[in-house]
Amino acid sequence: MADMVFCNSELVENYVHYRPTPPDELIATVVNFVKEKRPLPLQVCVDVGCGSGQSTWLYSSHFQQVFGLDVSLEQLEAAKRTSFHNVVYKEGMAESMPFEDNSVDLVTSCEAAHWFNLEKFCAEVDRVLCPGGVLACYGYSFCKPTFAGRNLRLTMEELSHSVERYRTEGHKHLLSDYTTLPDFYPEEVVVRSSKGKFSVESDATLDSILGYISTWSSFGKLKSFEGEEASAKFLLNCKQKLLDAMGTKEENVLMKRRYDYFLRMWRKPSA
Ligand SMILES: C[S@@+](CC[C@H](N)C(=O)[O-])C[C@H]1O[C@@H](n2cnc3c(N)ncnc32)[C@H](O)[C@@H]1O
Repeated sequence: MADMVFCNSELVENYVHYRPTPPDELIATVVNFVKEKRPLPLQVCVDVGCGSGQSTWLYSSHFQQVFGLDVSLEQLEAAKRTSFHNVVYKEGMAESMPFEDNSVDLVTSCEAAHWFNLEKFCAEVDRVLCPGGVLACYGYSFCKPTFAGRNLRLTMEELSHSVERYRTEGHKHLLSDYTTLPDFYPEEVVVRSSKGKFSVESDATLDSILGYISTWSSFGKLKSFEGEEASAKFLLNCKQKLLDAMGTKEENVLMKRRYDYFLRMWRKPSA
């Protein structure tokens, strides 16, 4: 049974506004790996746990058909606001995908594989992938803000730890750059987040960093288990901790924010 924390319209709206899009270089690395062994033009890509489509549409110019799959109807509704002629969003589970055997060139999962039953997902990926097809799992651990030369990474980590009672068992995979995921196939490519190869940096406001914090599933659970007041108090505390770390009382300052993506991908053997 999937965790339904993402079936919440408010959380999804925050997701649309505050979650990042993976960098072009990461998508190119994945697509080029698929091209090494699959005939051109590439046919089918399935993005599992697609959420509101942050990663899905990026494959539309590389594949004839792209599917985004998710258990959350709220996320899918938000994803459907973007329109690409060859991208279709479907309700479905990572553990029982609505696709034929040997029919998919690429299965991707951005910031989502740690939510799946990995044993069942592994079996489904093996069933739907064509021989020579690729599974790519990628994500990022935290947003890393900076302000006037001060790095706020540790503050963000502390804030996240303060709600770790609401993390799932699977979060350990996210915090390890997915190095603890099972070895799906012997042929593998690994890029750790510390390599800085797939980083995205942009300007940010304090409000947008707090908006990002409000997309954490652990924050969503704190809100549903402890109530509105407790969640508002948590966000106020986050604001104060960030201001303290920035060494300012001024809330309307321009900050920077970086996401360091990691990637693990595997190729299904050709024969
Ligand atoms: C952290 S969000 C990631 C969304 C998006 N891929 C992104 O890059 O931001 C995880 C998504 O996985 C979905 N999800 C969780 N368990 C799932 C499962 N077993 N099968 C399919 N989707 C699942 C959730 O509904 C949620 O939309």
